[in-house]
Amino acid sequence: MIPMTLAEVAAAVDGTLHGADPAARVLGTVEFDSRKVTEGGLFAAFAGEQADGHDFAPTAVAAGAAAVLGTRALPGVPMILVDDPLDALTRLARAVLDRLDVTVVGITGSSGKTTTKDLIGQLLNEIGPTVVPPGSFNNELGLPYTVLRADEKTRFLVLEMGARGAGHIRHLCEIAPPRIGVVVNVGVAHIGEFGSVDGIAAAKSELPQALPADGLAVLNADDPRVAAMAAVTAAPVVLAGQAEGAGLRAVDVVLDERGRASYTLVHEGNSAPVELALTGAHQVGNTLLAAAVALHCGMPWAELAAALARLRTVSTRRMDVFDRADGVTVIDDSYNANPASTAAALRALSALGGGAAADTGAGRRTVAVLGYMAELGQAERDGHAEVGALAATLGVGLLIVVGESAAPILDGAASVRHWEGESVLVSDQAAAIGALRERLRAADVVLVKGSRYRTWDVVDALRETHAVGVSDGDGHR
Ligand SMILES: Nc1ncnc2c1ncn2[C@@H]1O[C@H](COP(=O)(O)OP(=O)(O)OP(=O)(O)O)[C@@H](O)[C@H]1O
Ligand SMILES: [Mg+2]
Repeated sequence: MIPMTLAEVAAAVDGTLHGADPAARVLGTVEFDSRKVTEGGLFAAFAGEQADGHDFAPTAVAAGAAAVLGTRALPGVPMILVDDPLDALTRLARAVLDRLDVTVVGITGSSGKTTTKDLIGQLLNEIGPTVVPPGSFNNELGLPYTVLRADEKTRFLVLEMGARGAGHIRHLCEIAPPRIGVVVNVGVAHIGEFGSVDGIAAAKSELPQALPADGLAVLNADDPRVAAMAAVTAAPVVLAGQAEGAGLRAVDVVLDERGRASYTLVHEGNSAPVELALTGAHQVGNTLLAAAVALHCGMPWAELAAALARLRTVSTRRMDVFDRADGVTVIDDSYNANPASTAAALRALSALGGGAAADTGAGRRTVAVLGYMAELGQAERDGHAEVGALAATLGVGLLIVVGESAAPILDGAASVRHWEGESVLVSDQAAAIGALRERLRAADVVLVKGSRYRTWDVVDALRETHAVGVSDGDGHR
């Protein structure tokens, strides 16, 4: 955070000081986990369901906190007293932003926000000091928390904006008004809360609507619902994608045997070859969106292709690919799942398996361990069935479906005629690990995906060759 006196902080949050020196300065970060507090930091005490942050105030002070932001006075603790710590954090974030000269980039979409946020963060960091939060941090708490990590040196602030309903993104745009807005896609993630895909599109369009006339809207040219948002923004628009009308475009996209895309990047009469180190065809679109932001923020065209080639996966369990000593390759995409992201992951799995070569027996066997996809509301049954049908159409060799609620995936797979893969329904993660233990073969490519619920336990077991070994195909070890 920028250095501020406790008096200034109290004024910004409309709070009162208690047992605190008004001239003392906040020099460190704002934290709500007392274990993360450093010298001169500010500790925000929230009353959660399980714990009350006020109980940890003494620990925070012992760790060097300059003061504690909370709702009740505590003996011996320098306090900034407020009615609502979250509201206070939000006000403080606004006050800090007002004092800084940073370009705020907001990112929204149904899937790929964190992934694209990480890509944009990496590119902008090559241009100037950039604050980009790890993981998701995309709500009314994560946003001010991230803003408060910026200081005078910061030039770019990259913020993920999630929505669970109408008005959420508008609110986030009020906390930290973005100059640049990026919309990745509109899908059925969290459809339960929105009612319909149009409801989701309307909610995502709150980001382009909030942009100023001297800002920039970066829209996915390949998603008609996103491209249509060009009509609702006052900002100039860049359409990025593979569609013909895109201002920043990828042509001649090919995937290599590791599922990594190469393409020719085309922009205003220039073109450059790009080779990504990232896995999955969906990264073509994500990298184009990131490239549009970087170009606008001053990255020279001549440096862009090389910068794109340097991009890596940052947040964990999103298309994390690793090879085991016994020849098995694992794609850890277990962070979360919805039909669109699962389709993207299945396509990447198929590419790693050798794509069409696998059909002729020349490729590697593909194994998909798929769990339940949450928050699909009315689209739940069809969403699961679609994913199963795609897995079968792509010729997945072994389909392990985890949990009774995900069973429609099997129905979808069974509906594809001529599919010769094996399918199994298991009750939970432990049973999925058991099923792999029996069936895994050397040279298999395994995708693990599901909506949290510890689907990643399967990946962690796969990390250990002694936990899940390979057989020779006849059940012998
Ligand atoms: N453009 C894309 N289209 C479809 N799926 C994608 C895309 N980009 C990333 N994904 C996949 O979507 C999943 C979620 O990715 P990510 O965490 O980036 O999304 P998110 O929008 O931040 O999700 P959340 O709403 O949980 O924060 C991952 O499996 C990732 O590989
Ligand atoms: Mg996210």
